[in-house]
Amino acid sequence: MISESARIIALTGAGMSAESGVPTFRGRGGLWRNYEPQQLATPEAFARDPLLVWEWYNWRRAAIHEAQPNAGHKALAALEQTGRHVTIITQNVDSLHSRAGSTHVIELHGSIWKSVCTGCAAVFWDRRGKLSTLPPLCPECHQMLRPGVVWFGESLPPMAWQASAEACSEAEVLLVIGSSGVVYPAADLAPIARQAGAWVIEINLEPTALSSLADLSFHEAAGQILPKLLQ
Ligand code: OAD
Repeated sequence: MISESARIIALTGAGMSAESGVPTFRGRGGLWRNYEPQQLATPEAFARDPLLVWEWYNWRRAAIHEAQPNAGHKALAALEQTGRHVTIITQNVDSLHSRAGSTHVIELHGSIWKSVCTGCAAVFWDRRGKLSTLPPLCPECHQMLRPGVVWFGESLPPMAWQASAEACSEAEVLLVIGSSGVVYPAADLAPIARQAGAWVIEINLEPTALSSLADLSFHEAAGQILPKLLQ
């Protein structure tokens, strides 16, 4: 399927970066101080206790700062070098695909290195690990900054969503890698590609909500199987 296809998409989730040491949201490693991510990654949680939410993001910033692209990220970047059009649509906010060398990366859920002012909406980028002062304030208007990521209940960046849906409707193969497939609208991309005639190949440690839609499922770690598959 892959060797005969020119347009390939990888839809990636937290499992893609698990072997780089970035904790996933669900399952093992998801808990932080006994909070589920769903309790923290919401506008309501931020309104109620911004310091708590920032402390969680600071923990994730530290882990992501230490992380390096793994063999799976590198294999996807190498696939692009073979002349195929490879688009990465990621729910991850860690920039590891770009750091591995992939050049067409759509960050559906934003970036952990971006902060947005809750007052004047100014955008700031800071790729250092942990922030020293929490919550951080806007250097322009002194209102609080918020992480530049998409939270539950918020809309995806419209351009990123449109580009993702378009890419999926033209894909020949969609690889769904390390995603539980329960967060929408990202999980809608697999049916879009399927309906447009793409092969759907799932790579995940375990069966997921998207397994029944897949033509093939590999239940193995992404960093193990991707280099073998894409070779
Ligand atoms: P989840 O944490 O929900 O799921 C991670 C998936 O990766 C699970 O299905 C695991 O079985 C699988 N997995 C773990 N390690 C793996 C490995 N080494 N190789 C392959 N698979 C592995 O992550 P997402 O599906 O990305 O959104 O979650 C989607 C969204 O929910 C996130 O982007 C985030 C989260 O809350 C927001 O914050 C809005």
